[in-house]
Amino acid sequence: MFWFWLLAAVVVIFGFVVFRGAPYVPSRKKELIAAFDELYPLSEKDVLVDIGSGDGIVLREAAKRHARAIGYELNPLLVIISRFLSRRQPLVETYLADFWFVSLPPETTVVYVFGESRDITKMVNKVADEAQRLKKPLAFISYGFAVPNLMPVKKTGAYYLYQLSPLQIDEA
Ligand SMILES: C[S@@+](CC[C@H](N)C(=O)[O-])C[C@H]1O[C@@H](n2cnc3c(N)ncnc32)[C@H](O)[C@@H]1O
Repeated sequence: MFWFWLLAAVVVIFGFVVFRGAPYVPSRKKELIAAFDELYPLSEKDVLVDIGSGDGIVLREAAKRHARAIGYELNPLLVIISRFLSRRQPLVETYLADFWFVSLPPETTVVYVFGESRDITKMVNKVADEAQRLKKPLAFISYGFAVPNLMPVKKTGAYYLYQLSPLQIDEA
């Protein structure tokens, strides 16, 4: 009976997330490496934020390139797994949070998203609002989904790279 309730709890936790964003599917490591080598070469100057960070695979790849890597994840089990798998990488931080309510850290340089077609426009708008609030451009990497009506600056495999700049409304 214990195992039944445990399994039911896991199913409910993973199932609940689909009402707030994409279900858990990890990025493919080989493609991720190609993206961080060719599409957006990460360095120690970068602070990468993965919105919906899953088991933290993206964060760990970013940290291997000496970037600080911050993940926000809604599923508490994935947060525990991510923290465990990243325990030897001090550059990685994972927080239990709904990314729709998160304010990006001011040091953020690049936002990584493996979302879904339903939410991609809303996600890019959210990050564009953050670029406006922080008054700095943000790189936006989308895995698997092009943003409608927005021209990528580069494409590698299934990855699209966009540059989101704050509007120049405060210049006058
Ligand atoms: C397709 S997976 C990508 C995981 C990871 N970014 C990767 O590329 O391996 C999407 C993740 O976003 C999480 N998620 C969905 N909606 C969310 C929300 N509103 N806030 C935080 N995380 C969310 C899911 O639990 C899932 O782990």
